[in-house]
Amino acid sequence: MIQIAPSLLSADFSRLEQEAADIEAGGAQMLHLDVMDGHFVPNISFGPGVIASLRPKTRLFFDVHLMISDPLFYLPAFVKAGADMITFHYESDADVGKTIEAIRSSGVKVGVAVKPGTEIAVLEPFLPLLDMALVMTVEPGFGGQRFMPQMMPKVEYLRRWADENGRPLWVQVDGGIDAVTAKTAAASGADVLVAGSAVFGAEDRAKAIGAILQSAGGVF
Ligand code: DX5
Ligand code: ZN
Repeated sequence: MIQIAPSLLSADFSRLEQEAADIEAGGAQMLHLDVMDGHFVPNISFGPGVIASLRPKTRLFFDVHLMISDPLFYLPAFVKAGADMITFHYESDADVGKTIEAIRSSGVKVGVAVKPGTEIAVLEPFLPLLDMALVMTVEPGFGGQRFMPQMMPKVEYLRRWADENGRPLWVQVDGGIDAVTAKTAAASGADVLVAGSAVFGAEDRAKAIGAILQSAGGVF
């Protein structure tokens, strides 16, 4: 099943509860929360306080994407805030194996993300330990950038690995997903599609979600 994870980064930060309600009513089950520290990426978004405030207002699954240099240090704060899954970057300062283990022991799902310039093969030793692998299809830091189709071989690699090993690995794509690029990503094997500006930039969020899922061939 293909899932959509609208990214809160493109929402109106003055009305987050309503924004979350809109996408839930529109058929989304996940909310993608982009955390940026102004160090790992040249932008600052929001932290655990905002996530904790939103947690009791919605039943959406909280998919937290940490674009921060030291995910291990901040892990307890994001678990306490109500994350359901925590994804950190392979390129962060973290010891990857240790951080995966710490997230797993915290009782939440775990993902690792790779930036466009990172070879996907670096994740191979860790794949059996993951719930999700995230292929960035833009340089992390900002919403509204153009999808990089040249990242699709990474998605194909992950899907092939999951199929060959009989593992239920989610393959997430993040960056530039809209009703056109969703089709390319899904055809390559992605099953969790992050979309920020294409959903929150649309007047009718339900329609935008429906268009992306329909183009990806999913049902909801
Ligand atoms: C970029 C973030 C993305 C971003 C996606 O660093 O990780 O989640 O919000 O936004 P769009 O869908 O507009 O590319
Ligand atoms: Zn993201």
